Amino acid sequence: MMYEMKILGIETSFDETGVAVVEINDDGKLVLHSNAVSSSIDLNLQYGGVVPEIAARSHIEFMTPAIKQALSQAFPAESDPWQQIDGIAVTQGPGLGGSLLVGLTTARTLAIIKQKPLYAINHVMAHPFAASIGAVGSAPELQDYKLPEATVEFPFLALIVSGGHSQLVYYSSVTEYRVVGKTRDDAGGEAFDKVAKILGLPYPGGLNVSLKAREGNKDNFNLPQPKFQDAPYDLSYSGLKTAVLRAAQSAIGEDYTFPSIGLSERLSEAQKADLAASFEYAALKMVVDRTKMAYEEFEPRCVVLAGGVAASPVLRSMLEAVLPVKPIYPDMKLCTDNGAMIAALGCLQAQAGVNPADPYSLDIKPTWPM
Ligand code: KG4
Ligand code: ZN
Repeated sequence: MMYEMKILGIETSFDETGVAVVEINDDGKLVLHSNAVSSSIDLNLQYGGVVPEIAARSHIEFMTPAIKQALSQAFPAESDPWQQIDGIAVTQGPGLGGSLLVGLTTARTLAIIKQKPLYAINHVMAHPFAASIGAVGSAPELQDYKLPEATVEFPFLALIVSGGHSQLVYYSSVTEYRVVGKTRDDAGGEAFDKVAKILGLPYPGGLNVSLKAREGNKDNFNLPQPKFQDAPYDLSYSGLKTAVLRAAQSAIGEDYTFPSIGLSERLSEAQKADLAASFEYAALKMVVDRTKMAYEEFEPRCVVLAGGVAASPVLRSMLEAVLPVKPIYPDMKLCTDNGAMIAALGCLQAQAGVNPADPYSLDIKPTWPM
């Protein structure tokens, strides 16, 4: 079989070590050949959240096994799989400094030793390109991936909502995009995680709030919808988080001084379910309304969902109810952080003629804006 180009993608911006091989074939179609992801979240959760030093050390531990796994999954019969790799793509930012350094230093070193071109990728910009992956190779581990039937075409509108980012972006090409709106404070996924803590629900917060919400009534608590006159597409989650806290305090007859850690044992299961449902609806309505408005104003060819919150079936059905086109979703395993989205954008940038980075001088960009 003739392959146009195969790229090894490396992602280490937060707590997931992701390494994957993606091919761009003669027809320009992106094919996933492997996707190795290791997370340090269990270790981090012993300390109540992600500890940057722990995340960075875990990347060091996971990196070599992840690269080996990604290469052997993609090329099980090859004695030197590096011969098959045409380039390396790596997350340059944004993210945790120590974590980014591990991935970037690994990628630079490999690019020099193996003499491969190196592509420096913006993590947030890469998220929606997980939905551009249209096929999988023969690795047995990939056969249960549910890939989108529709093809992502430019210009497209992407709704990127995760634990670290929340924005609406209009992409006109692989290198040109415009941030239509973004959060002014917290990310949507982070708000789900905080509300899970208030309600005493276990990690992962978003998923458990969503499950609890199924038992509740979204109309039992009236939560705010922030709106900005000067930037109608901007989002905000910090006020909504506080509104949930205040609603929970008043539901048990206490005032704002009552500590959030004491709430979950005093709230009834019915109150928790109603709070979860009301919060989930308010949090998702905020992005759904803005996506609809942006769709009408910018008239993109498609709408792509990306980031951990894109895994929410409620978000999917709310969007489908208001948009005239069916949004395109990556497989759940490609919604959260992974090396495949980095490799996918690397393939597209290489094909578009983007210049590779200098492996001797490339540095991390922890605060790289999109
Ligand atoms: O993209 P992602 O893995 O990563 C980081 O930002 O690291 O997204 C994780 C986020 C978490 O905040 C989680 O609460 C949220 O995605 N999430 C959800 C759901 N599943 C995951 N939020 C709402 N509903 C869900 N079903
Ligand atoms: Zn991410």
